[in-house]
Amino acid sequence: MTSVLYPDLPENGLIVLIGASGAGKSTLARTWPASQVLSLDGLRGMVGDDPGRQDVTADAADVLKLILERRMARKLNTVIDATNVEQSVRVELVMAAKRHGMPTVAVVVATPLDVCLERQGPRPDNRRVPEDTVRAQHQARVHSHQQLAAEGFNTVVFADALYRLEPFLKRLSQVREAELGRDGSAGLGDLLLVRRFFGSEVLPLWRWRPGSDLVTGRDRLAEIRLGQQSLILAFRDDVDGEGDFGFDVLLPCPFDAECAGQAWAPVYSVTDLYKALTGAMDSDPDIVCTVHGDGVDDDQDDDPEGRADLEAQYADAVA
Ligand SMILES: Nc1ncnc2c1ncn2[C@@H]1O[C@H](COP(=O)(O)OP(=O)(O)OP(=O)(O)O)[C@@H](O)[C@H]1O
Ligand SMILES: [Mg+2]
Ligand SMILES: [Zn+2]
Repeated sequence: MTSVLYPDLPENGLIVLIGASGAGKSTLARTWPASQVLSLDGLRGMVGDDPGRQDVTADAADVLKLILERRMARKLNTVIDATNVEQSVRVELVMAAKRHGMPTVAVVVATPLDVCLERQGPRPDNRRVPEDTVRAQHQARVHSHQQLAAEGFNTVVFADALYRLEPFLKRLSQVREAELGRDGSAGLGDLLLVRRFFGSEVLPLWRWRPGSDLVTGRDRLAEIRLGQQSLILAFRDDVDGEGDFGFDVLLPCPFDAECAGQAWAPVYSVTDLYKALTGAMDSDPDIVCTVHGDGVDDDQDDDPEGRADLEAQYADAVA
């Protein structure tokens, strides 16, 4: 079964992607687990803070070769995501594999030149490769094809001939099932919604705060805290009585600095969280205060009992 589905790739080996910029190497590389992929762009980013920075290429290549050597010694499947159109580059890679008896596969990503060039257009400046360079890479790729077997590759295959969608979807599906807890683990549970709004990075900082009187009904209070900085949020189960749901963030009341109520503004994204934390949302037109409402018309109770500043609200909220 496996041999029918994957005729060309050993279970563990060195897989060298070969193609011009824009050919689709990194897209293909993402079908392998991230830990198996050595990306020259990625390493340029790690060494020089910018994946497109050309003056750190030699350093990045050194790091790549070091990691490759250590992985080959452990017989770990490894994919090289770089143009690899120069023979000298490929020969070094193949030698590292051979030193450890690992099989080698050349995967030729033979995308037409005009497509590679077209794909440079929408890229950010630091990732856009000049047209001459792409042309030269494409030429070199075409010419290299005949030599690959002689260079020592055990297998030479076109990317178009691979069956990579299945392992890609299998891995994504496993991650998804684990998140949902369908694999028997706890799963993300009620953090799935948090992630959909704000992204996975905030999840470790997210704490639900049950039992707070800052929210009523089925609404829930939560906190995002890192060191000295934090945000208080409320999950609204039934926004405007329409069965909709969403998050509000707690802000200082914009209508009265001494207000004892809580002012809430809707947040839809991590950008909104950033704005809320830095004060950029303090005059948000959608702020609704539990004392002042949305701040328009009717006389306001300007003399609330005592003074509850945001610090005190935080203290209440996390008590
Ligand atoms: N099989 C594909 N079908 C359709 N579009 C693709 C395919 N592979 C890649 N692309 C598109 O082409 C663009 C460039 O792909 P990718 O970044 O993988 O190229 P690359 O070979 O890694 O380039 P570079 O060498 O500059 O890193 C991507 O934006 C992607 O959307
Ligand atoms: Mg790439
Ligand atoms: Zn108020």
